Amino acid sequence: MTVASSQQKPPLNDKLASYDLKQAVDDNRLAGLWRLISGFHWTFIGATLALGMAALAKTAVYFVFRDFVDNVLGQPAKANLVPLIALSFIGLALLEGGFTFLSGRWAARTAEGTAYRLRNYLFDQIQRLPFAYHAKTATGELIQRSTSDVDHIRRFLADQATAVGRVAMLFIVNFIAILLLNWQLALFSVIVVPLVLLISLWFFRRISKAYEAYQEQEATLSTTLQENLTGVRVVRAFARQDYERAKFEKDNWEKYRRGRWLLINHSLYWPTTDIISGLQMLAGFTFAALLAIDGTISVGTYLAYHQLVIWIIWPMRNLGRLIVEMSTGLVSYQRVSKVIAEEREPLDEGDVRPAGPPQGHVVYDHVAFAYEQAPEATSTTDAAKPLDTATNSQEQAADPAEKAQPMPHVLREISFECLPGQVIALMGGAGSGKTSLVNLLPRFYDATGGLITLDGQPLNRYPRRYLRQNIGIVEQEPFLFSRSIRENITYGVGRAVPDEEVYAAARAAAIHDGILSFPDGYNTLVGEKGVTLSGGQKQRVAIARTLLKNPRILILDDATSSVDSETEAEIRAALQRLMENRTTFVIAHRIQSVMDADLILVLKDGRVLQHGAHDELMAQPGFYRQIYDLQARMEDELQREIAGNGRSNA
Ligand SMILES: Nc1ncnc2c1ncn2[C@@H]1O[C@H](COP(=O)(O)OP(=O)(O)OP(=O)(O)O)[C@@H](O)[C@H]1O
Ligand SMILES: [Mg+2]
Repeated sequence: MTVASSQQKPPLNDKLASYDLKQAVDDNRLAGLWRLISGFHWTFIGATLALGMAALAKTAVYFVFRDFVDNVLGQPAKANLVPLIALSFIGLALLEGGFTFLSGRWAARTAEGTAYRLRNYLFDQIQRLPFAYHAKTATGELIQRSTSDVDHIRRFLADQATAVGRVAMLFIVNFIAILLLNWQLALFSVIVVPLVLLISLWFFRRISKAYEAYQEQEATLSTTLQENLTGVRVVRAFARQDYERAKFEKDNWEKYRRGRWLLINHSLYWPTTDIISGLQMLAGFTFAALLAIDGTISVGTYLAYHQLVIWIIWPMRNLGRLIVEMSTGLVSYQRVSKVIAEEREPLDEGDVRPAGPPQGHVVYDHVAFAYEQAPEATSTTDAAKPLDTATNSQEQAADPAEKAQPMPHVLREISFECLPGQVIALMGGAGSGKTSLVNLLPRFYDATGGLITLDGQPLNRYPRRYLRQNIGIVEQEPFLFSRSIRENITYGVGRAVPDEEVYAAARAAAIHDGILSFPDGYNTLVGEKGVTLSGGQKQRVAIARTLLKNPRILILDDATSSVDSETEAEIRAALQRLMENRTTFVIAHRIQSVMDADLILVLKDGRVLQHGAHDELMAQPGFYRQIYDLQARMEDELQREIAGNGRSNA
């Protein structure tokens, strides 16, 4: 797949594609938008100028018209000029059409190119944001910003931004034209412009706020939808359809309410300015008519004015409308630029860069850790709150960072040493900190206290990329892509893998035969369009994926929790061979999975409750022995029951 996509020619040249959009983040939204279209500046200016030229051609039509009325009509001697005038009408119309077309073309190039680059950038950016950001940001919110908001920016560039240029041009050109006809008339025709501008600005503010509230609610709604689609099984299992429907309806109603408020504001704007500009036009016509009756201006001039003034009033009203509509583009820019401004997780920072894989000597020295609260979190929850009035949303979302509070420690005073090739087992109840502890190793998060070293060097001096390439992790809830099983297993290996190697990894994970029983074997698609794997099958595919990576350090986070004990024993035997010379962290609940470990850590509330090898822990009273006794007793009972059944059946 990667091969195919790299062969396709990217639609943007390298210079355009390599522009770092981080530079386009600016508190001044117009300045930011201007930088967002870097590389398209001349295309954009061209689009605006072309619209202006089209406007010029349109205005020229009225001048020819005036000449026609004043100098040709009613003068038989000049009848031979009629074809010429007709031709110039056609020529001007062609010019106008040509320039309009050019402008549309260039505006589209600017808008589509910018949106294309922006979408790619956002996708990349979202992939590279730290875990902490994702843990606290609703998926729906990110989807909304990468789709709907990008689209509003695209529309802003394609229509509104160039149209502002056109409208300004039309206004200026026609105003000058009327000035040439009669300056008093010209001034009289624009008396209401400041008023219309003021009204537009007022509406701009209101609509900005209303639109922001609307977009926030839309994000909430997408989050609800997305969560319900993901959790569709839970909803059915708990028969919560009605509850979920009510919740969705409530969110949807709120969106409707905000949408209506937005529309009301939009539709209030029109009649207001309509009345004002209507009055202006009427006054202009009357004034011009008086001048014509006076003989101050000719009939041709009056008729030309009659047309020209429409092209002053129209831009004036449109400028207002555009200002109002631009608010959506500006708000969307702001929402998108917030994501762009987020700090990426630096992958290549670090001064310890061994040439080969690490030895795997890991030391935790009084390690403490607390999750931090991402500032974005509060802003999204704020957005999710129903608002009493749609207008106060901006104040609410304004300064979320202030509300962030320090989170409690989930790990404290963790100290242990793991020699290269050793196996460390972690046990403990739900939420005791096992996953958090191992997540520090690939630097998904950094410890907040104490020191972790790898081969004698502090962990945070290694680039994250190096650690992640050399540490294989089978996650507690593995995720498989909707691709073939083979692609899932070879994911992230970064080289062509021969089939034999894939099979070997699958065999070690006790899934090879299972895969062969699927209709298309290793080419079977996983997920929506293909087979649905069971929890245990998923875990085993994930184990195969990690084994294929052949990491020096292996982390198995409850990797066999959904696998029956027999298969688990099978996997364990295979892993035993693979774990040789590898430093391995095993999180498990079954004693059998951990008893062979060199060191067992029992965690409780983020602290090490007990540590030692199996024999040591069995020799002391405590959690470990209790669990051992409990599991042994259950096993005994099970054996007896099976034996009993066998006898009674015989
Ligand atoms: N991304 C996160 N942000 C904030 N707190 C978190 C995050 N992940 C886990 N926690 C908290 O950290 C604590 C330890 O969680 P952790 O996932 O490490 O437990 P665990 O031992 O792996 O539990 P389990 O056996 O259920 O997997 C819990 O109280 C949990 O609420
Ligand atoms: Mg866990």
